[in-house]
Amino acid sequence: MARIVAIDGDGKWLAPALDELAAGRAVAIPTETVYGLAADATDGRAVAGIFALKGRPSFNPLICHVASFAMAETLGSFDDAARRLAQAFWPGPLTLVVPRAPDCPVSELATAGLDTVGIRMPAGPAARLIGAFGRPLAAPSANPSGRISPTTAGHVAGDFADADLLVLDGGPCPVGIESTIVKCADGRLTLLRPGGASREAIEQFAGRKLETPMPESGVEAPGMLASHYAPNAALRLDTTACPSGATLLAFGPDRERKQAGFALNLSPKGDLQEAAANLYGHLKALDARSPGVIHVEPVPDTGLGHAINDRLRRAAAPRG
Ligand code: TXA
Ligand code: MG
Repeated sequence: MARIVAIDGDGKWLAPALDELAAGRAVAIPTETVYGLAADATDGRAVAGIFALKGRPSFNPLICHVASFAMAETLGSFDDAARRLAQAFWPGPLTLVVPRAPDCPVSELATAGLDTVGIRMPAGPAARLIGAFGRPLAAPSANPSGRISPTTAGHVAGDFADADLLVLDGGPCPVGIESTIVKCADGRLTLLRPGGASREAIEQFAGRKLETPMPESGVEAPGMLASHYAPNAALRLDTTACPSGATLLAFGPDRERKQAGFALNLSPKGDLQEAAANLYGHLKALDARSPGVIHVEPVPDTGLGHAINDRLRRAAAPRG
């Protein structure tokens, strides 16, 4: 059962929400745009929990919500234009996609393995919650994949009636549509998604036109390019008998792996949420050993397994 807790003036709602977040669980939060399904952006398992709850078919990168510009700067590298936009439009319905900061603590799953990070400072109680938590919250809209975005706590509770989910009720969202997304990188400003902050207002403030992403650049569908996932090594999928001395990305408890030269297991207990949280990190760690070929055991094609297999297939696809 979804549990609705009203956001009241005396702040009693904060403690239960902080408990959930600290336990690595998602909380539905009101923002000025839409309700978000929020969890600790620095905790891969917590982020995987968001994807599982939404039933999202693929790992789109998530927006990281911050409480201050100082927090934003620990996540991303802001050039002058990005800094000025943040100062003008935050808190508010503008997400800035900027290069990941060198020591960015955000889970690779939240950024879908990209070298950029989407950051937004929401207004109101969401910012208060993030400030009290002290870490950024990754949050997509709080709807099951493919459904309409929620703008009331009741929408969220209805959509997740069967989930054990805390829903903070801050009343109807004032903006009601998702944030505008602008990518600020390489000296360019590119509109990735129109939203709650108007293009005109942004252009007027920036003193220039926003660029339109090239359809074939893949920027509009981040994370959909094979090269985002492709390790240097070739990937061989569906390995059921690991060749002697080989490098292995394993999954689950039940296989004989003594002959592997080096193996990392996505989830020794066969938990897809844990496997999703480990996917990019394990692939990178194996690739860092320069193995030539990484053999990958089959992952069940259910739930988060669809997304894991989608990424593995992209990583294994012929290059160039
Ligand atoms: O208003 C909003 O933006 C709401 C509230 C909860 O903040 N959130 C939201 O999240 O709409 P979602 O997951 O439905 O949409 C996030 C979009 C995705 O289309 C994703 O592609 C894009 O943000 N995005 C996030 N990080 C990105 C990145 N590093 N590069 C390009 N696009 C990114
Ligand atoms: Mg959405």
